[in-house]
Amino acid sequence: MGAVILDGKKLAAEMRADIAAKVAELKRDFGITPGLGVILVGANPASISYVTAKEKACTEAGMYSEDIRLPEEASQDDVVAIVRRMNLDPKIHGILVQLPLPKGIDESAVIGAISPEKDVDGFTPENVGRMVIGEQSFLPCTPHGVIKLLERAGVETSGRHVVVVGRSNIVGKPVAQLLMRKTPGCNATVTVCHTGTPDLSVFTRQADILVVAAGHPNTVTADMVKPGVAVIDVGVNRIPDPTRSRGYRLSGDVDFDAVSKIASVITPVPGGVGPMTITMLLYNTLASAQRSK
Ligand code: GUN
Repeated sequence: MGAVILDGKKLAAEMRADIAAKVAELKRDFGITPGLGVILVGANPASISYVTAKEKACTEAGMYSEDIRLPEEASQDDVVAIVRRMNLDPKIHGILVQLPLPKGIDESAVIGAISPEKDVDGFTPENVGRMVIGEQSFLPCTPHGVIKLLERAGVETSGRHVVVVGRSNIVGKPVAQLLMRKTPGCNATVTVCHTGTPDLSVFTRQADILVVAAGHPNTVTADMVKPGVAVIDVGVNRIPDPTRSRGYRLSGDVDFDAVSKIASVITPVPGGVGPMTITMLLYNTLASAQRSK
């Protein structure tokens, strides 16, 4: 029997309707419109498409969005100056600097300039530290979206073995941290694998839940998983495809066709984790605006 396909688009639409209703209430009762400042440097095609989708989602939820696009040659000082201006702007409740930044710009310096109170990506050292020690913080959007998807699918995490493939600051490290927290919807035993793991399949075969954020298609194939595993595929890879008008198709990091025959649940790409990332960004921006009452 094939896996249940976890529909991230559907869950995202439901959550966004709820967020939009709360945005309308905040406007009506307090005259506050949640605002997101988005900074994109350079012309990375994937980043352009993510940022465009984030801004569209903001507008659809009734939020204000300020979109700053800088050329590839912009300096670190240029970017930091915009971040500092947004830190002080009362119309902006959340700041997002799209990563990766072009070479020559120190990401830590730029992220470090974001006020932790407006860090809706949850990337500043203050928010990462608070998340790790279990204090109130903005949770990073993709990991938070993964947890919401598991919850929606009714996948038990407590006491189960989660194997995370990938150790990025954006997904691998924080999703591992969240899933090991002693809170409902988490409390898992977590193993993190990465490019230094000699035989990935030794670990992936032990997984009850597999979260794959490796950044390469077919990182996980059917021979690498046990029957009944729940698979969350965070990868978004552009595969050249001349039959498509845009010249490529999207694929995750997991061999979906083969693994979906063995897994109990699996997220598709596109339409799985991606829409949830944007939704959790809206969620954090709303929360930040609510705190400004
Ligand atoms: N690049 C890839 N994912 C993300 C994300 O969630 N936030 C930001 N700011 N950049 C990203």
